[in-house]
Amino acid sequence: MTNTAEEKYTRESITWIHPWTPHLFSFRTTRPGGFRFTAGQFARLGVQKSDGSIAWRAYSMVSGPYDEFLEFYSIVVAGGEFTTELYRLKVGDTLLIDKQNHGFLTLSRFESGRDLWLLSTGTGIAPFLSILTDPHTWETFTNIILVHSVRESKELAYKDTITGFGQHEFFRDHAHKLIYIPVITREQITGALSERITRLIETGTLENAAGIPLDLNNSRIMLCGNPEMVDQTRGVLKARGFRTSRQSSPGQIAVENYW
Ligand SMILES: Cc1cc2nc3c(=O)[nH]c(=O)nc-3n(C[C@H](O)[C@H](O)[C@H](O)COP(=O)(O)OP(=O)(O)OC[C@H]3O[C@@H](n4cnc5c(N)ncnc54)[C@H](O)[C@@H]3O)c2cc1C
Ligand SMILES: NC(=O)c1ccc[n+]([C@@H]2O[C@H](COP(=O)([O-])OP(=O)(O)OC[C@H]3O[C@@H](n4cnc5c(N)ncnc54)[C@H](OP(=O)(O)O)[C@@H]3O)[C@@H](O)[C@H]2O)c1
Repeated sequence: MTNTAEEKYTRESITWIHPWTPHLFSFRTTRPGGFRFTAGQFARLGVQKSDGSIAWRAYSMVSGPYDEFLEFYSIVVAGGEFTTELYRLKVGDTLLIDKQNHGFLTLSRFESGRDLWLLSTGTGIAPFLSILTDPHTWETFTNIILVHSVRESKELAYKDTITGFGQHEFFRDHAHKLIYIPVITREQITGALSERITRLIETGTLENAAGIPLDLNNSRIMLCGNPEMVDQTRGVLKARGFRTSRQSSPGQIAVENYW
């Protein structure tokens, strides 16, 4: 669906909604004609409020650049201006999507590398799911380590998608490259690590769990989610010599803060 050419956004339909917990859900919309993006980027979504104004927020695409729909993964913030309205929407309702794609959490941030570390908290896993639906990712890296830190096991959204890459018709030949490390910090669950990502790196537990060392030559590290996690993890990595990757000086780290 489109609107007049001078408007900066299109009106799209919600086509699918999937609740994970009372505070977490995923949804799909029709894909705006001409909306292109690179895996890892985000869109700006708009909801019409009851007073007629529009609230806009950044949302990473979960879906891949080649999917016909757009998929997003959302928290519901108690009293949040945007998510209170978003949460009320139903299949068939309208969502506004800015025509412009945004963001720099993309593989082009790195010049080269062997091991891709994708470290996320909460809904911060979203861009990494998009990155994993891009064949380029699987062709570029020898190992892909996906870490998802949540408070409780029920918040490990997309677990079946991630463990299902081995059966996926496009990805199964590469699926052995993926090492999925769930982290559950407020429950003791077999099969998941239980300390914060920062501590797991400091103690070497994360490298042990992956069976792969973090090193400057081979590791390329993306961080996404809670800004304190991003900041503190970057601090831990910087102490080991890792540097944020910039166009003028390539490094090993790329980050996105969600608030
Ligand atoms: C680049 C970028 C990409 C983003 N992608 C996503 C995404 O894919 N999915 C998503 O759910 N959110 C994402 N966000 C956050 C999103 O833009 C909104 O902040 C979120 O929808 C809450 O909006 P709100 O108006 O209800 O509350 P806000 O007033 O925007 O936020 C209120 C408070 O809620 C908390 N909060 C906000 N977002 C989150 C979150 N995602 N997880 C945990 N706590 C949060 C923070 O404490 C924040 O101060 C992204 C943000 C940025 C900057
Ligand atoms: N009412 C509810 O039932 C409910 C449920 C879920 C979320 N919420 C609310 O939603 C908001 C977001 O919750 P969320 O669970 O999605 O996000 P979150 O607080 O960012 O927690 C997600 C994961 O990130 C970890 N983490 C947090 N700070 C970190 C840091 N500095 N370094 C390393 N790891 C860190 C958490 O570990 P720790 O467990 O150690 O913090 C957890 O494993 C919160 O305000 C919360 O109150 C409410």
